[in-house]
Amino acid sequence: MAGLIPQQFIDDLLTRVDIIDVIDGYVALKKAGRNHQARCPFHEEKTPSFTVSQEKQFYHCFGCGANGTAITFLMEYAGLDFVSAIEELASRVGLEVPREGGINPKDAHLTQLYELMELVVHYYTRQLREHPRAQQAITYLKDRGLTGKLAADYELGYAPPGWDALINALGNSTEALGRLYDIGLVIRKDSGNYYDRFRNRIIFPIRDQRGRAIGLGGRVLDQDDTPKYLNSPETPIFHKGRELYGLYQARKSLKECDHLYVVEGYMDVLALAQHGIPNCVATLGTAATSEHLDRLFRSTSRIIFCFDGDTAGDKAAWRAMEVALPLLREGRQIFFMFMPEGQDPDDFVRQFGAEKFTSNDQRVALSSYLFETLREQIDLSTLEGRARFAEKAIPYISRIPAGALQALLISDLAKQCQLQEEALVSLLKETKPAPEIVRSNVRSAQTARRCTPMTPISKAIQLLLHHPQLSISDEQLTRLRNIKDPGVEFLLELLEFCRSQKQVNTARILEHWRDNRYGKRLRELATQENPLIHDDSVDDEAFKNELIDYISDIERSIHEEKRQMQRRNIKGWDDFRQLYDKSIGKPGQGTS
Ligand code: UTP
Ligand code: MN
Repeated sequence: MAGLIPQQFIDDLLTRVDIIDVIDGYVALKKAGRNHQARCPFHEEKTPSFTVSQEKQFYHCFGCGANGTAITFLMEYAGLDFVSAIEELASRVGLEVPREGGINPKDAHLTQLYELMELVVHYYTRQLREHPRAQQAITYLKDRGLTGKLAADYELGYAPPGWDALINALGNSTEALGRLYDIGLVIRKDSGNYYDRFRNRIIFPIRDQRGRAIGLGGRVLDQDDTPKYLNSPETPIFHKGRELYGLYQARKSLKECDHLYVVEGYMDVLALAQHGIPNCVATLGTAATSEHLDRLFRSTSRIIFCFDGDTAGDKAAWRAMEVALPLLREGRQIFFMFMPEGQDPDDFVRQFGAEKFTSNDQRVALSSYLFETLREQIDLSTLEGRARFAEKAIPYISRIPAGALQALLISDLAKQCQLQEEALVSLLKETKPAPEIVRSNVRSAQTARRCTPMTPISKAIQLLLHHPQLSISDEQLTRLRNIKDPGVEFLLELLEFCRSQKQVNTARILEHWRDNRYGKRLRELATQENPLIHDDSVDDEAFKNELIDYISDIERSIHEEKRQMQRRNIKGWDDFRQLYDKSIGKPGQGTS
């Protein structure tokens, strides 16, 4: 992505914007010594550990580990993507964002696909109003309690019967047909001909959170047709595991309500919205992923899962709970609602109304759900039962980031099991997190500190990252250039970058390598604690000596490595004999 905007522009841009202004627009910063501080906007806290350095143009929270540049802040806090973050910063300082070689062809193609998708949505919504066969669809929607206003708000549409309605409307050239194929709306036959994917179905357009149309869902009208729901396939603009139906519409309503419901079906979202609960989203026929949750937590801090009252719904709830655990940093809350047997949220709200659906009595907190489910079939009146309960619960608790929630769960569990909290804490320390789960994007400060051990190369890179004005002698540079080692090559690149730039700082280095394979390691190094680097009493001269020492260490360790390699190479008998022959002055013999 970064390739589209010239790197030089990003470098320049960062010298013009001030991270303090950018962040202060969202979070009130207070000057504290050399830095600015605030209560961290990425987690709940009482005393400020969110620090912004003007000199480094870099922010870092010592509590939750969040860190980055002005660009990162706009991405993580304001939810912009990379390109939009650049555009936002550029517009603040009155710059136009240039593109390398005009518009990138891949970008141009995507733009065409988004535009076409927009036309498709328009076409299908119009068919619901105008097509001679649409009456059945309108009646169906009315029977399900939806008004014309709601259908308009969610842009419901109708795909006419027949094989080529869409093709005739929007696929009149080879290119046009090709693009319809690219967005998954026509299917290619072996003969090379195409036909419409959606036929005689109600259409649910899916928009991303920026409001771009990206895919469709379609429901049959007759009970007997299959499959009941059809979705757009994965396409360059549609990724099911990330998107949520209704998020775009729900976000508009989020100013007033501070939580989002996650349900299973399109019709659940619509029925709830119809009953005045517009803050609902649905996954697209897939389980909730951590990508979904990340996205939702960017819009709200409280999520309420409400799955159908059946076995599949129960499984989905448990699975969602497991995915959510590592994301539960402070300030975030998750609740569960359980529908009566055989009902889904749509049935429920129509039978019992919105007030009952939204009442606090209907939901349980994640912690209660977790404990209650694990306690099923365990007899807590016996010692064995209590031990079993503790053993089952600890692996789940260990997946929650360290913080108040984890501590409270431990203390609650201790009470229930009649155990000392300390005993549970030590169990927690020994426990590997319960199996399955996947990545933790949210890295606590603890893990950030626990990263890869520091080699002399890492130390040199870290020092430069914080003090990019440091330099080394030409002689040392030349010696480094003769070393063939990927780490050293990167260090050289970094030294040259720092040398060639005016006003270089931490942020500019991080942004220069953002999408490069070194980007991740650089970010780690930027936040990894190092008392030396943050010691204000150390002057530039001392830092320079430190850097020179690291570089000598690098040279030494590389030579040592080489020597070891040579030693290890003497493996076979032939090697040994050749060396032996050499040592006693005999010319080497090939064969005996
Ligand atoms: P449901 O069958 O629970 O949906 O499937 P629903 O909205 O309650 O359906 P009706 O209209 O009231 O009968 C939940 C979700 O699973 C996906 C769809 O995304 C649907 O909204 N699904 C379901 C499919 O993708 N294909 C199917 O055949 C069925
Ligand atoms: Mn339903």
